[in-house]
Amino acid sequence: MQTINIIDAPKHVNERVKIGVWLTDKRSSGKIAFLQLRDGTAFFQGVLLKNKVTPEIFEMAKHELHQEASFWVIGEIHEDKRSKFGYEIQIEDIELIDKSEDYPIGNKEHGIDFLLDNRHLWLRSSKPQAMMKIRDRVIRANYEYFGSHGFTKIDPPILTGNAPEGTTDLFHTKYFEQDAYLSQSGQLYEEAGALALNKVYSFGPVFRAEKSKTRRHLIEFWMIEPEMAFMHQEESLEVQEEYVAYLVEKVIEDCSHELEVLGRDPETLKPFTQTPYPRISYDEAIDLLQEGGLDVKWGDDFGSPEETFLADHFSKPVFILNYPKSIKPFYMKNHPTRDDVYICADLLAPEGYGEIIGGSERETDYDTLLQAVKDAGLDPKDYAWYLDLRKYGSVPHSGFGLGLERFLSWITLQDHLRTTIPFPRMLNRLYP
Ligand code: 4AD
Ligand code: MG
Repeated sequence: MQTINIIDAPKHVNERVKIGVWLTDKRSSGKIAFLQLRDGTAFFQGVLLKNKVTPEIFEMAKHELHQEASFWVIGEIHEDKRSKFGYEIQIEDIELIDKSEDYPIGNKEHGIDFLLDNRHLWLRSSKPQAMMKIRDRVIRANYEYFGSHGFTKIDPPILTGNAPEGTTDLFHTKYFEQDAYLSQSGQLYEEAGALALNKVYSFGPVFRAEKSKTRRHLIEFWMIEPEMAFMHQEESLEVQEEYVAYLVEKVIEDCSHELEVLGRDPETLKPFTQTPYPRISYDEAIDLLQEGGLDVKWGDDFGSPEETFLADHFSKPVFILNYPKSIKPFYMKNHPTRDDVYICADLLAPEGYGEIIGGSERETDYDTLLQAVKDAGLDPKDYAWYLDLRKYGSVPHSGFGLGLERFLSWITLQDHLRTTIPFPRMLNRLYP
């Protein structure tokens, strides 16, 4: 007898198999019990007929198997045309492992704080499981995309002395006698990588001690950061849209069931696999917002209402180009003819999900960059290595960062980033 996973049941019809499972729900009458089972690969039903098992097994199933009880089931796989999965197991024997009494998460509605306090258990429910499968598929799609487009993965350090994205939201720690921070972004190191290996990318956790409590901000999130040598911003935008379209395409191809579990009709994602995505300047965006009656002026950063308005205006992800210098980081490239904006772009997701990518061409002039470091209130000594990159074989280069959880929240229609990551770190949450 073979031990299998539920997902492989279709390959074992009319065979006797053994499966390790948890109970999600059960229903029984005098002669029959229906056990709803999961093993992490899929959900299906186990049917227990009183006259096909010993009386002890039937009684045990009725009285001792509680929600999330773990056990082995042995039985025959049958087709089950009425269920969505299409197969069930006719149970012949059960080997109980753990009864699991008083499982806290029931099949009723629970408040979000309760669910987050029990995230270690909530992960077993169908929606979190679907999300983790999509997250995993997107992560693999990243490796596929960059791996097949000539990029080398370079892992930046997590403990660092640099603050690329500003000094207000740094996590400070001691590094023996020195001060250190948890990385906000691997970008500066990816730039060193690009000058060594031409096209590189990173994928890892980054940390922002953001005191603001919004639906779109996590304290710890995962970012993909490609960096490309001998590349100007226009070409980088083409990489960005092709890459985002690829991610969407792979999720549609391989996760349509999971998308549906989360309430996203895969059909509605198809338009986003078509490139190019529209591009407008920050100046044009301000005009659009003002015409739309929003209270913004040139120089303001965009918040959720502005991003949602702009996204609604286009039915595609949209690039907003050349933001004012005052609201962007020091490393961005100066505009050739204007001294008030950088050569940069953010990509806004459609349907009001906000910025999913931030990117730019990088400043390559040594003196301009040194001044920008100083103007940002940073100590040039800490950035000497970064400035070196402009001294020895400096080349035009561009890059960007995609926030994994922002991307996921958009494609799965989550109203908060907290459900897109296994164990969210938020302003008031370090547990579990
Ligand atoms: O726009 P950001 O801050 O850009 C950078 O960090 C650059 N160094 C990237 C680069 O050019 N290599 O962050 C990039 C993306 C945002 O567009 C957003 O998707 C996500 O990271 N992000 C967050 N996601 C969750 N929680 C937060 N607090 C986030 N802050 C940014
Ligand atoms: Mg940004």
